[in-house]
Amino acid sequence: MEKSPVVSAVILAAGQGTRMRSDLPKVLHRLSGRPLIRYSLDSVRDLTVNPPVVVIGHGGDYVRTTVGESARFVVQQPQLGTAHAVMSAEQLLREEAELLVVTTADMPLIRPETLKRLVDAQERNSGPITMLTGFSEDPHGFGRIIRAADGSVQAIVEEAACSPNQLQIHELNLSIYCFDAKWLWGALKRVKVSAKGEYYLTDVVALAREEGKTVQANVLDDFSEAIGINTRVHLAEAETILRQRINHNWMEFGVTITDPSTTYIGPMVKIGRDTVIGPNTHLRGLTIIGDETNIGPNCIIEDSTIGNCCSILASVIEQAVVEDHVSMGPFAHLRKGAHLMEGVHMGNFGEVKDSTLHPGVKMGHFSYIGNADIGDNTNIGAGTITCNFDGVHKNQTVIGKNVFIGSDTMLVAPLNIGENASTGAGSVVTRDVPAGEVVVGVPARPHRKVEKSD
Ligand code: UD1
Ligand code: MG
Repeated sequence: MEKSPVVSAVILAAGQGTRMRSDLPKVLHRLSGRPLIRYSLDSVRDLTVNPPVVVIGHGGDYVRTTVGESARFVVQQPQLGTAHAVMSAEQLLREEAELLVVTTADMPLIRPETLKRLVDAQERNSGPITMLTGFSEDPHGFGRIIRAADGSVQAIVEEAACSPNQLQIHELNLSIYCFDAKWLWGALKRVKVSAKGEYYLTDVVALAREEGKTVQANVLDDFSEAIGINTRVHLAEAETILRQRINHNWMEFGVTITDPSTTYIGPMVKIGRDTVIGPNTHLRGLTIIGDETNIGPNCIIEDSTIGNCCSILASVIEQAVVEDHVSMGPFAHLRKGAHLMEGVHMGNFGEVKDSTLHPGVKMGHFSYIGNADIGDNTNIGAGTITCNFDGVHKNQTVIGKNVFIGSDTMLVAPLNIGENASTGAGSVVTRDVPAGEVVVGVPARPHRKVEKSD
């Protein structure tokens, strides 16, 4: 088998992004909760075993700390154009790269498959460049593609330099290329400075043609991949397209989405078959949802795991785990470290934080459970509160199996309540309750049955 050439990737991210009107570097603005640069990094990940090289400039330190270990960085200072930007990666990549993919950090919707096709095409190309182009009704802002009679690319003309006829061309340069790396390093040195004082990467096309070499283009099927983020309006447009793409994929997979236009599913989320997602639902971060579960309407779920066959209505869940057959809501709130085991029922206006509710626990209405462990099949009456914070420390409440906590019980932690115990309505429990005992009152004391005399 023929050995595949070594591929390296350069992501251009040094530009200022002035039109975002922001203190934040453009590539750190978030799309569906993730910085834009993450999408570019993901799009090249499967092309190469070498970490991609990100060319940074404006706000570079911030970009570097956000991205971390998954990339290498070179600083382009000052920013003298796209050719100059690629040149700044030469020292790092000269000995490594045979094929060089160049892409930009502000086109988050480019699919990995699109870049794979580009690399495959360049492997077969006798010439030094395969570039990505696309057709759009609205060519404004893009360099135009001039084709030669044989169908190969003759030149790229930047919009500012276009003749009136050239402005009518609808085939556009998307600024994504795969180069023969060795040829490119040589060609970059021959790029001449433009009238604007910049070195344009697009000029290497003409250089290849002058040497009689072929430049070929791969045309994008779906132009929505090419949306570039220059303003916050573009960011919102990309958000819509990404959302449609993600929702479409989940529906194809076997998830029912009642109203895709109000359903927001993050790119890292996973969902099981025959789950139904109701309107106005947001699934964010590293959330995993099982099979045959009903979510929404009106749920926000972030960084959480939800099991199979659950029903979750109008609730907020953050960093929590919900096992199978749990019913929740409306208006329930799980916070960090909440763990609802199989078959738990949590009704309206409940909040659970850093607590485990064992199988079959029922917590119907208006309760706060924090820093607690609640045994199997225990019933938490309406208005129960774990008083877990003494002003300095969070204290633990441990409740055994089959306990009956009466309505409006205050459980003053640290506290242990043994299995099969009960608390009376309105009791304030300040001392441990042994198994089987009934306590009542303020502060709660063992309840002695008064013998009735007739
Ligand atoms: C570029 C192309 C144009 C193409 C368009 C697609 C050139 C000369 N033109 O134009 O043909 O249609 O992209 O969007 O390449 N960057 C740096 N350092 C620099 C300058 C830019 O890293 O010195 C980065 C930017 O951060 C950005 C990318 O390169 O990610 C493209 O630069 P930009 O200034 O947006 O180029 P365009 O004018 O859009
Ligand atoms: Mg641009």
